Amino acid sequence: AATPSYSIATIPADGIGPEVIEAGVEVLQSLSQHLGTFKLNFVNYDWSSEIYKKTGRYIPDGGLEQLKKHDAILFGAVGAPDVPDHISLWGLRLAICQPFQQFANVRPTRIFRGTQSPLRNASTGDLDWVIVRENSEGEYAGQGGRSHRGKPWEVATETSIFSRHGVERIIRFAFETAQRRPRKLLTVVTKSNAQRNGMVMWDEVAQEVSQEFPDVTFDKMLVDAMTVRMVMKPESLDTIVATNLHADILSDLAAALAGSIGIAPTSNLDPTRENPSMFEPIHGSAFDITGMGISNPVATFWTAAEMLDWIGEADAAKYLLEAVEKVCEKGIVTADLGGKANTKEVTAAVCEEIQNNI
Ligand code: NAI
Ligand code: MG
Repeated sequence: AATPSYSIATIPADGIGPEVIEAGVEVLQSLSQHLGTFKLNFVNYDWSSEIYKKTGRYIPDGGLEQLKKHDAILFGAVGAPDVPDHISLWGLRLAICQPFQQFANVRPTRIFRGTQSPLRNASTGDLDWVIVRENSEGEYAGQGGRSHRGKPWEVATETSIFSRHGVERIIRFAFETAQRRPRKLLTVVTKSNAQRNGMVMWDEVAQEVSQEFPDVTFDKMLVDAMTVRMVMKPESLDTIVATNLHADILSDLAAALAGSIGIAPTSNLDPTRENPSMFEPIHGSAFDITGMGISNPVATFWTAAEMLDWIGEADAAKYLLEAVEKVCEKGIVTADLGGKANTKEVTAAVCEEIQNNI
């Protein structure tokens, strides 16, 4: 059979985005050359806050149609000091996620060998989670408005939207995710004591969908109590599903508990596969370290592995993660993980690990 070939769109965008995407592409190329079992073709899109400041738009006419032709999208980070965050987020990231119906945002977290959790008693194996975040509606549905702007009597609303269709598909996806993992354990997070409409519907839908997955154990948590459980009993959790807002917050906490925001990946998936899915490190554009050459590329490497897994190259994904973890074990890590290496050194070490040990 012919070697499969995948077309990957890269959107490095802002801040450290270009540095980490460059590192990610280098490692992916090294991997595909070395394995020889698949090919990757990269097409770069320069959509960014720079372009926005010049043209007033992040995505040009016809941009989404072009993007749709690719097998996957590798995204850096969007956000600039002189553009309001709600403009950059809605202008680029959500402008891709929402029309492409990437309704499942998947955020794995674990403590890599050779890295340390800020939790005193947690080490590799004690924290191994997948957070599934609803990515199309909820608190970020874009519903609401402002009246009497700037007046002392100004009012604003931010309405959460929960549709049965939207809740059901994310909860089913979460049960499927839990079912594929060894522990088959799902925690459904809501705030159904205080928010008695949408959140109560979540609980009911979870109960209904659970009937289809008799082999998956599921429990329910309120989001506030969940933060406590994540810190105090990390080993009691496996797969977690929550709303757009709740999971946004919980997954940053998860990344920090695993050691650094600099290692965590995230996938924006269209599980129907009608549209390409988008893969990105969880971190933002990190203006404080942009251009210093010290950003941790590991989040992007793990992101690249998630992408390979999704497009059907699961073995390559495993090789890549193994190489990254070996490099961490050797102590070749950036400052956010307590090391002295820079972005290029970590990238070179991962490429070397791929060339020598796979
Ligand atoms: P951030 O994730 O950019 O930075 C938070 C802290 O973590 C900073 O001290 C930064 O130096 C550090 N950090 C982040 N990534 C790192 C890496 N790879 N290696 C080492 N250290 C790293 O979050 P912040 O500062 O809240 O946001 C900055 C900008 O990024 C804002 O404009 C925000 O809207 C945007 N943002 C974009 C996201 C996206 O594109 N998906 C996600 C989060 C924030
Ligand atoms: Mg976030």
